[in-house]
Amino acid sequence: MNIVFIAAEVIPFAKTGGLADVCGTLPIQLEELGHDVSIIMPHYRCVGSKEAFNERADVDTIGRNIRVYFIKNKKFFDRPYIYGENGGDYPDSAERFGFFCHEAMKLLKDIGKLVDIIHCHDWQTGLVPVLLRENYAGDPFFALTRSVFTIHNLAYQGIFPRENFPALGVEDGLFNERQMEFYGKINLMKAGIVFSDYVTTVSPQYAREVQTHDWGCGLEGVLQARRGRFMGILNGLDYRVWDPEHDSLIDPKYSVKEWLAKKIHRDQLRSVFKLPPYADIPIFGFVGRLFAQKGFDLIESAMEGLMQRPLQIVFLGVGEDKYERLLKKLARKYPQKCGVLIRYDEDIAHQVYAGADFFLMPSVYEPCGLTQMIALRYGTIPVVSAVGGLLDTVTDFSSSKKKGDGFFLSSYSVSGLLEAVDRATGVYSQKEKYADLIKHAMACRWTWETSAKYYIEVYQACSS
Ligand code: ADP
Ligand code: GLC
Repeated sequence: MNIVFIAAEVIPFAKTGGLADVCGTLPIQLEELGHDVSIIMPHYRCVGSKEAFNERADVDTIGRNIRVYFIKNKKFFDRPYIYGENGGDYPDSAERFGFFCHEAMKLLKDIGKLVDIIHCHDWQTGLVPVLLRENYAGDPFFALTRSVFTIHNLAYQGIFPRENFPALGVEDGLFNERQMEFYGKINLMKAGIVFSDYVTTVSPQYAREVQTHDWGCGLEGVLQARRGRFMGILNGLDYRVWDPEHDSLIDPKYSVKEWLAKKIHRDQLRSVFKLPPYADIPIFGFVGRLFAQKGFDLIESAMEGLMQRPLQIVFLGVGEDKYERLLKKLARKYPQKCGVLIRYDEDIAHQVYAGADFFLMPSVYEPCGLTQMIALRYGTIPVVSAVGGLLDTVTDFSSSKKKGDGFFLSSYSVSGLLEAVDRATGVYSQKEKYADLIKHAMACRWTWETSAKYYIEVYQACSS
């Protein structure tokens, strides 16, 4: 099959979160399964200059022969941030990503190779299925092309005022409740869901959750209507990158047999975060975007209780101003026990995964989550809320049943969090049980190989 990914972020070119990991890794797996894959993304400032393809796009290669096309436009993409400042979106984002979608479709015709599947990701690409179905309806070039739309995070829907609709370059009549309108505004996530041939999201549990009133962010009805062509496929992890045995960003490397090397990493981590050495108390780590989704309101409420316990915590992340300020405040208040680095830093992220003993992830909701999967591989035990992909990838530890690789919050509350942390630190102090826990965690494999096969089935279902 000839498959084209269209996405707003792709590793190794531009990344703010897991979307980039998925869009830079799944294509490589699909290529390994024998498919022809290319990728289209914007030419942000951080992408740097590449070989020119034509006046519309530059091009680079990943995998064996995956062509990555970067849509050029100085006005829209030559900016300091990918989406906007402080975790927000630039005010002209409808026009900006609308332009990107139109140019991507034109580029496919410039390339001139017939496409079986256009695989779109999140609201930034939600216009593509509309263009395919409407603007290019009679175009023989796209006659056999089908679209798949993957929801990575339903809370971000690309909602814009009605006045922006003409800038999207589609028939005005599409602004109606069944198609692109949502309570009087444009909704580009809804557009992608309604117009694509198949909709997926990034874990089976999240696929169930988003069809309910509590988690559907107003689109539960739209998703229920697509039930027969909506599926949750768990993200995978690229174990070539995330493997403590071969990770070039950590020293020493370690396998499951040598997991005690984590103690050396723990000491290194303390010095990176300027925390004093404490004999044998565990470190809880967090790596991720600093947004409400990741549970910072709960962390704020639980912090006093946490800091009374024999543990230290380190946070690495960037995001919303208020959470950056909150973390800095906590680091000032608890200099012995809480370390904070407000930045995006691959090297330090690897050090946290290797050096922390537990990975704190009390997400309010979590479509899939890659960080807990990475943590597992590094023997860093996840302490997580019981939602979305966390439920699909972590198993609560039970020493009597000799199974489990993490700890779930018993309820989404301060007491639920503290109880999970107490269970975790309780096991930490019992050598044998803790060794079992680490072994279970490091044995987990959530591979792209498995997930890619499900995507192929989805692509085939679209074309049949
Ligand atoms: P989300 O997509 O919701 O941000 P995921 O768990 O799916 O969460 O993916 C987050 C990805 O981004 C992981 O690869 C994680 O290591 C990386 N990441 C997030 N914040 C940082 C940071 N500050 N520095 C380095 N890597 C980060
Ligand atoms: C989103 C979600 C995260 C998921 C990632 C990749 O950013 O928040 O849970 O892992 O997309 O699909």
